[in-house]
Amino acid sequence: MATVLYDTGINPSLIRARRVAVLGFGAQGRAQALNLKDSGVNVVVGLRAGSVSRAPAEATGLSVAEPAVAVSKADVVVLLVPDEKQPKLYADIIAPGLRKQGALIFAHGFNIHFKRIVPRADLDVILVAPNGIGEQVRAQYLEDHGVPALVAAHQDASGRARELALSYAWAQGHGRAGIIESSFREEAETDLFAEQAVLCGGLTHLIQAAFDTLVQAGYEPEVAYFACLHEVKLMADMIFQHGIAGMRESISTTAEFGDYTRGPRVIGEPARKAMREILAEIQNGQFAGELEQELAAGLPAIKVERVRARAQLIEKVGKTLRERMRVRGRSG
Ligand SMILES: NC(=O)c1ccc[n+]([C@@H]2O[C@H](COP(=O)([O-])OP(=O)(O)OC[C@H]3O[C@@H](n4cnc5c(N)ncnc54)[C@H](OP(=O)(O)O)[C@@H]3O)[C@@H](O)[C@H]2O)c1
Repeated sequence: MATVLYDTGINPSLIRARRVAVLGFGAQGRAQALNLKDSGVNVVVGLRAGSVSRAPAEATGLSVAEPAVAVSKADVVVLLVPDEKQPKLYADIIAPGLRKQGALIFAHGFNIHFKRIVPRADLDVILVAPNGIGEQVRAQYLEDHGVPALVAAHQDASGRARELALSYAWAQGHGRAGIIESSFREEAETDLFAEQAVLCGGLTHLIQAAFDTLVQAGYEPEVAYFACLHEVKLMADMIFQHGIAGMRESISTTAEFGDYTRGPRVIGEPARKAMREILAEIQNGQFAGELEQELAAGLPAIKVERVRARAQLIEKVGKTLRERMRVRGRSG
């Protein structure tokens, strides 16, 4: 069992004594830079010349500099630009610019684990990976809560990388929710797997298949939408709060009986076999290679899928129903 750490025993002064450059002001960059500022950390946001994010970042009271300038003055650099942009930014700006014995922090293990970035040996290389989107990282922090996070040290040149990782995690509010000591490999592989098998790939295809089944059997699309998509949030919230067993005990006996007897037929051995194959493709680097080919070619497969998805009946029905729900909400 993994040990889960909380704020008690973490040394906040370590990160507070460092000058931190956060590169990027997107989903995670905005949240993490603001959390650092509110935690009393000396932070500057690194944004490229002409960045559309400069004005919004400055409006929050954060200091902004171009990446090379921000990196040259920092003890700790947090790489919060899209994963596919990180190797070039590391090679062009961080490798030549970050001071000796500095620290480099990632929010996802991909580039280190799959060796797309091989950092200088004198650096501490740290992972602080939030289990939540940037919006939650900020919103939870403001409410005196936090999202959980995984931390790891890939290189510990200073001998204090673990302590610094925990201190940084403290500044993000992760110690209020739970910090797990992990590795870049474990984080990268489990994160990709969860996205593919459950959170994105699994869930969307499950909803789509169930919706199609009902519509093809002659049921109204609006009814199928509410039954198969809308209610997912209610169930997810219940599982989030009470766990799977607790959710099952809260629903009707009819629903619970259907769950036990029919669920294993939907997610049976073929689905479990597919999951094992998907995990193997992540572990052996096949998925990373396919992703890079897609990126290099300008996202041809993704563009086709986006058009195909927009044309689905579930999108048309859902768009109308969601708009009407919002109008109703606004008018009270
Ligand atoms: N999305 C999440 O909530 C989430 C959750 C967990 C972990 N992560 C990890 O967090 C990291 C950041 O992801 P993200 O989703 O926050 O990224 P993001 O929102 O897509 O990042 C956008 C920011 O990156 C900047 N940027 C893009 N290309 C750049 C370049 N070539 N040079 C300099 N700056 C560049 C953009 O600059 P401009 O403002 O100038 O356009 C913008 O400020 C990734 O490692 C990701 O895996 C993300």
